[in-house]
Amino acid sequence: MNKSQNNMPTVIPEQTIPILDFGSQYVQLIARRVREAGVHAVLVAPDISIAKLREMNPIGLILSGGPASVYEDGAPNCDPKIFDLHIPVLGICYGMQIAAQLLGGQVKPGAAAEYGATRLHVLDDGAAEGHSGELFAGVPTDTGVWMSHGDQVKELGLDFISLASTPTCPLAAIRHKTRPFYGVQFHPEVTHTPHGGKILENFLYRVCHAAGTWRMGNFLDITVDKVRRQVGSGRVICGLSGGVDSAVVAALLHRAIGNQLTCIFVDNGLLRKNERDGVESTFRDHFHIDLRVVDAADEFLNALAGVTEPQTKRKIIGKAFIDVFKRASGSIADARFLAQGTLYPDVIESGQGYARTAANIKLHHNVGGLPAELGFELVEPLRELFKDEVRRLGEVLGLPENMVWRHPFPGPGLAVRCIGDITREKLAILRDADEILLEEIVAAGLYRSTAQTFAVLLPINSVAVMGDGRGYKPVIALRSVDSTDFMTADWSRIPYDVLARISSRIVNEVRSVSRVVYDITSKPPGTIEWE
Ligand code: XMP
Repeated sequence: MNKSQNNMPTVIPEQTIPILDFGSQYVQLIARRVREAGVHAVLVAPDISIAKLREMNPIGLILSGGPASVYEDGAPNCDPKIFDLHIPVLGICYGMQIAAQLLGGQVKPGAAAEYGATRLHVLDDGAAEGHSGELFAGVPTDTGVWMSHGDQVKELGLDFISLASTPTCPLAAIRHKTRPFYGVQFHPEVTHTPHGGKILENFLYRVCHAAGTWRMGNFLDITVDKVRRQVGSGRVICGLSGGVDSAVVAALLHRAIGNQLTCIFVDNGLLRKNERDGVESTFRDHFHIDLRVVDAADEFLNALAGVTEPQTKRKIIGKAFIDVFKRASGSIADARFLAQGTLYPDVIESGQGYARTAANIKLHHNVGGLPAELGFELVEPLRELFKDEVRRLGEVLGLPENMVWRHPFPGPGLAVRCIGDITREKLAILRDADEILLEEIVAAGLYRSTAQTFAVLLPINSVAVMGDGRGYKPVIALRSVDSTDFMTADWSRIPYDVLARISSRIVNEVRSVSRVVYDITSKPPGTIEWE
């Protein structure tokens, strides 16, 4: 960091809720719920120092859940002095257990582990002593909660009060008598706890007295400031894919560092119709960003010729992308940083959370590979956000609506939607059919309610009667799914008349298609893509 950056004032929000990350899969969900409630939240390492915490203007702390047992050797811990900061603390699951242990309670394995939905009964005793009212205000006495734990707080010191119980967990919510500490064994942050949002809001507004002024615009200011500090006067390269994440990163970086940003867009010959034009008009014409478009279609398509196996296609495309990107970025003198649209689900799925203990659920397609090979320092301004938050940020940055709300498009593009071997002719058919499908979905007002909609070109021909003649031509499958996380999905119930219009237009306008079918497979067991 150079001298001028050291002198820049840091943008520190007026109020923050630091969340000590003990490795829960849900930790960013907690942060997101706090942000949704209008309060700035930030994840911190569980062993953060008291001095660092103080610098953040905390109005309260949340201790997250985590997969460890508090009584195990090496279990993540926090500084007990956090309870002397005189700010409210909410412990969730592991966070409640570690707090209870540090404050004199005892944690042991439960008789049985408890995963899933259960009933919570809010006790009156706490209210009688004037305590439970704050956390459970407006929450029914009997309500559903989501549990995911093996251990339980078994014994509370005399300083605690029990606030709620479930059939197998007598101490499902607790409060300290004299310190502003609350603990809940269940997960208020997940949607399976119907009144969880209310409980978190109660903590923020009734216990921490939050002002509730946090908005996405504040995130933008803070992130712009962070990016400036990280890159100084260095040049940053950003690979644009046409998708929303890289578009938001590019617009954000442009806001932060202006002409220190150079964007690279690789046309791999596997894009949807008009995709390249859309990227060029938004970034070059509208934002006036230094955009280099690399036409590498021949390189990709030659490398893919005759290849039918999906994972081999992916590997070839991944390697070609690195080669092309390396050459393009190598021609940009003084480039030191690479900006990437890594989102929080990518971080958590590849097991890189703060505590680095969250189970490695799935090795994500987009993480790994590119950066290390290229030798750039990474700039990842969206690492804390979920997809819908990225879209909101895109709106704040003034990106066009059709870019902000674009459905995800896989890196290998049409290669995994053109089943079997890939030729230019097949890609042209697929593009035309795909364009008609999307036009009709948009016209029917279904684009925003479906999560991903696309056409697939099948490697079989079927018979068609065309005029007086008989045709024997390829089949197009339509795929449209509803999903929030893309880990599970259900096929979209598109009205029959819309399907009829799509089918009729495709067979009439794309002359080389004989037949259109609609894929009605959910995920699992089917995947969203066909390959
Ligand atoms: P599946 O087909 O696994 O897709 O149900 C889940 C989500 O991931 C996208 N997808 C990919 N994205 N590279 C990507 O960047 C890939 O190789 C890839 N394969 C699938 C898919 O479009 C969906 O959004």
